[in-house]
Amino acid sequence: MIDVPTLYAETFLRHVEWLEVVDSTNNRAMELSRDPSIITPFLIGTQQQTAGRGRGSNRWWGASGALMFSVVIDLPPGLSTLEWPRFSLVTGLAIAETLSSIVPRAHVGLKWPNDVWLNGRKVCGILIEQADRRPGRFIVGIGVNVNNSFLEAPDSQRAIATSMKDETQGMDYSLTEILVSLMNHWKRLLDDLEQGTVNLVPRWSRACVLTGRPVTVQSGEHEMTGVCAGIAEDGALLLRTAFATERCYAGTVRLLE
Ligand code: BTN
Repeated sequence: MIDVPTLYAETFLRHVEWLEVVDSTNNRAMELSRDPSIITPFLIGTQQQTAGRGRGSNRWWGASGALMFSVVIDLPPGLSTLEWPRFSLVTGLAIAETLSSIVPRAHVGLKWPNDVWLNGRKVCGILIEQADRRPGRFIVGIGVNVNNSFLEAPDSQRAIATSMKDETQGMDYSLTEILVSLMNHWKRLLDDLEQGTVNLVPRWSRACVLTGRPVTVQSGEHEMTGVCAGIAEDGALLLRTAFATERCYAGTVRLLE
């Protein structure tokens, strides 16, 4: 269970709604984001989602023990909506660096744009959506596999996903403590992003699991293959193809090895 008073006392969140069950915290957050009277950052979290959504047309299967929430957040005044790719990368970086500090012996990786990996498998997914008719307002949906386990999951899932518990000999974690650390680190990075002091490329590159590897980037009907050359300062993924180094701002990346 989450200790909501602690979230108010120790984070920058201005409103918290914690639900036993909901279809998707992003859906609920989208609904709330239209209300002009809400105070942001506004977090909606849940124990159970019946129709959790992933990027594109993917579903997100959130088992009990996972941390699942969405934050309605207005970009700080110093950041333009055009900077959302950096905002998206900074959000993944905040989670990766927080998990690194909690499980220092595990290898924490980042797969562009913002999947977080633990020892080579996905531990966290992020779904960022723009609020309707509210420029600069975003819904940031985050699912972290914490105390749930994939040990009994079908092989196809076990091959690609993991949890903090599975990577640390069955250890259980306090969801409240993780959420507090995560919100505080995210806030620090967002402030740095606004001030221009975030050092995004070197920090992100340390954890990038794609650099130097052959990948395909699929964006709508368009597909490009090349070797990942890291990320650019503006948040683009750099793809070295046979002809040039291309910048990708959207799409799904598939590792080819
Ligand atoms: C992805 O990796 O495809 C993104 C997954 C995002 C899952 C989270 S769980 C909380 C929030 N509510 C949703 O319906 N999705 C996000």
